[in-house]
Amino acid sequence: MRPPARKLFVKTWGCQMNVYDSARMADVLAPLGFSPTDRAEEADMVILNTCHIREKATEKVFSELGRLRAVKDARRRAGAGDTVIAVAGCVAQAEGREILARAPYVDMVFGPQTYHDLPAMVARLARARHQPILNTDFPVEAKFDRLPEEVSAPGPAAFLSVQEGCDKFCTFCVVPYTRGAEQSRPARQILDEARRLAAIGVREITLLGQNVNAYHGEGLDGQAWGLARLLHALAGIAGVDRLRYTTSHPLDMADDLVAAHAEIPQLMPFLHLPVQSGADRVLAAMNRRHRADDYRRAVARLRRARPDIALSSDFIVGFPGEDDADFAQTLRLLTEIGFAQAYSFKYSARPGTPAAAMDRQVAEDVKAARLQALQQVLNAQQLAFNRRHEGSVLPVLFERRGRQPGQLQGRSPYMQVVNACGPDRLIGSIVPVRIDTGHANSLGGTVDTTGPDMTGFVQEPAGFDCPGQVA
Ligand code: SAH
Ligand code: SF4
Ligand code: F3S
Repeated sequence: MRPPARKLFVKTWGCQMNVYDSARMADVLAPLGFSPTDRAEEADMVILNTCHIREKATEKVFSELGRLRAVKDARRRAGAGDTVIAVAGCVAQAEGREILARAPYVDMVFGPQTYHDLPAMVARLARARHQPILNTDFPVEAKFDRLPEEVSAPGPAAFLSVQEGCDKFCTFCVVPYTRGAEQSRPARQILDEARRLAAIGVREITLLGQNVNAYHGEGLDGQAWGLARLLHALAGIAGVDRLRYTTSHPLDMADDLVAAHAEIPQLMPFLHLPVQSGADRVLAAMNRRHRADDYRRAVARLRRARPDIALSSDFIVGFPGEDDADFAQTLRLLTEIGFAQAYSFKYSARPGTPAAAMDRQVAEDVKAARLQALQQVLNAQQLAFNRRHEGSVLPVLFERRGRQPGQLQGRSPYMQVVNACGPDRLIGSIVPVRIDTGHANSLGGTVDTTGPDMTGFVQEPAGFDCPGQVA
């Protein structure tokens, strides 16, 4: 018997792993008759896939829940049916009970390690509609062994989780508690998933892990493989033209991984390598387990292997005890290194983490001022990096239509967003684009029909219609 046709609305916050997980939840629910919608108003089931990393993330979930309650009531009044409201992800894991207490209209709360159980949870709720489900177990069986084999992808660039959880216990961070202990998937499972992605047209795969360069899964030969071995194997899959991995820890930049950046042409010259702070005292209090100079050395090794590698990072300002001199060290480090892009955050005390209980918490206005100063330098670096590419030709993987009519949007090898005019059929191709303008957050360019031959490049006749050209 075919299951009833139902609509599923998923809203995602947080890191790329949550984006990947949301797609896998949709894959798990598809055989039950659920098809995606982007309107909560017509959904039979709504999943909020949440993030607990900073304070605001949690508050956003509760305000979204308030909005959904109104949607649920309106649908019921209109006789349009019942709306199942589910909360997944890291807030669910950390504050499951509080969610059910504060928002009793929520039907299901389940943590990141339970997604393979969704069909059973949906069935249980159907049997006992008024008994909310709370599932925040860390089951012994690996979730990945029980997720369905069918994969969907949002376009020619897709994520693939290879590792989950974290054993590093940085003193500010909730991830070791919400995602649990570090677990690496076996290489065979990852290679199979990558082949399936390639078969549905995916050209670029970003390997995901909270600590992806600590990957140590079972290899095809039964030995433990590091990330470098895995990347070499993935590079052998026809159709996978670009590989990336994120997020890395500076301690785990093994020699063979650095060398992979010189050896694997598919491995893109871009790396997100969070440093958090440039002050050794702060790094120690954060339990990062490396000094600022270790980070500088890791960057130097990467640049020797791949001189054009573009770097990105994460910074936290206002960690407990951080003083002006510490912050000056952070500015010095980022000025020395030069980043192509970066994320920066005010320290946010998270319940249950050691740093939340530390003395000398930094005042909010000091955090704000430091963040502003840091972002000023980072923004200038990003703009300079983008401007530096003006006049050059970059291979761009077009992923979707751009915002202006006639425009396509893709990414350069260095992760820059590139907008250029072109016909839809170039989506999914890697095309040479002459960069005309480097903006703060993107590049504008022209598809270069005279450019070098690039994988998958389709020769384009000149003169197609593009009103977006001027924008
Ligand atoms: N696993 C990754 C990142 C995890 S969280 C890593 O090890 O780097 C992403 C980023 O959020 C972190 O790099 C950090 O900069 C920031 N972050 C984490 N906890 C935070 C907190 N309590 N306050 C402010 N920023 C935080
Ligand atoms: Fe959090 Fe640190 Fe683990 Fe990254 S390495 S997830 S910041 S505990
Ligand atoms: Fe957020 Fe959880 Fe990712 S806390 S950053 S969604 S691992």
